[in-house]
Amino acid sequence: MALARRAEAGRGSALDPYGLGMGEAEVLDGGNTSGEVVRVGDTVRKPWLATTARVVAFMETLRETGIDVPGTHGRDEQGRLVLDFVPGTMAIDIAPLGVDVVRRVGVLIRRIHDVSARLPVPSDWPAGLLPAPHADLICHNDLATWNLVIDGDRLVFIDWDGAAPSSRSWDVAYAAISFGHLFPESDVCASAARLAAFIDGYDADQALREQLPTLMADRARAMYELLRTSHEIGREPWSSMFLDFHGDHWRNTTHFIEQHRSDWSRAIAR
Ligand SMILES: Nc1ncnc2c1ncn2[C@@H]1O[C@H](COP(=O)(O)OP(=O)(O)OP(=O)(O)O)[C@@H](O)[C@H]1O
Ligand SMILES: [Mg+2]
Repeated sequence: MALARRAEAGRGSALDPYGLGMGEAEVLDGGNTSGEVVRVGDTVRKPWLATTARVVAFMETLRETGIDVPGTHGRDEQGRLVLDFVPGTMAIDIAPLGVDVVRRVGVLIRRIHDVSARLPVPSDWPAGLLPAPHADLICHNDLATWNLVIDGDRLVFIDWDGAAPSSRSWDVAYAAISFGHLFPESDVCASAARLAAFIDGYDADQALREQLPTLMADRARAMYELLRTSHEIGREPWSSMFLDFHGDHWRNTTHFIEQHRSDWSRAIAR
């Protein structure tokens, strides 16, 4: 992942306990949606959003149960969220991942969902960008290789800002596309094997296995429609993303998933 380095005035002040006196920050490339994401020493700074206090509480609950997510450290002197920087490789840079890692990602997502299932879903927490048909669980909503750090055996999901009410199956469908690498030009047999490993790791029940091929196509199409309709009304950053690689990517991904529906069904049947 390319890191653009630039001087950042005013860091490392007495008001910034995590500035570490470095007086310098790296702008972290790789994301599209959060505005500026900056590394300062061993921390990451991201914009503080209306839902961030809730997101932080959710992350801390996950951490208390032993799930490895970045530690949070409140706000810095500029009001930004301060998070632990997680060293390692972004999974997207080495995707598609091997089946054993993909299976472990499935296990991890199941643990996240099971902890979340014990928590109430606040009725005033707005749904995410792609609302689930029946939202009943606080979900990450962007569980994908572009938000997973791998360091040896350590697997850590970052970028929890979009956490919001959704559902297991909607969150799983999205993660299954990414970790199965169900993307155009992929080898169908290899993608089906990764998908099966992911779903076995998640220990999906019969109902989810039967629904998944349809849900994955629906979820990919929802991504495409979000980008397309954002472009129609000029809503950024999705409008620009529609025009660059992302619009074509999600349209072609939708077709690829639909075209090979029977392969996915066969691979994940019990
Ligand atoms: N806690 C962290 N530890 C290590 N690297 C991080 C961390 N947070 C962010 N990064 C790096 O910064 C990049 C952008 O961060 P992040 O994914 O949070 O931004 P975003 O704009 O919200 O992304 P997206 O487009 O996925 O919504 C990541 O791809 C990763 O390389
Ligand atoms: Mg991200």
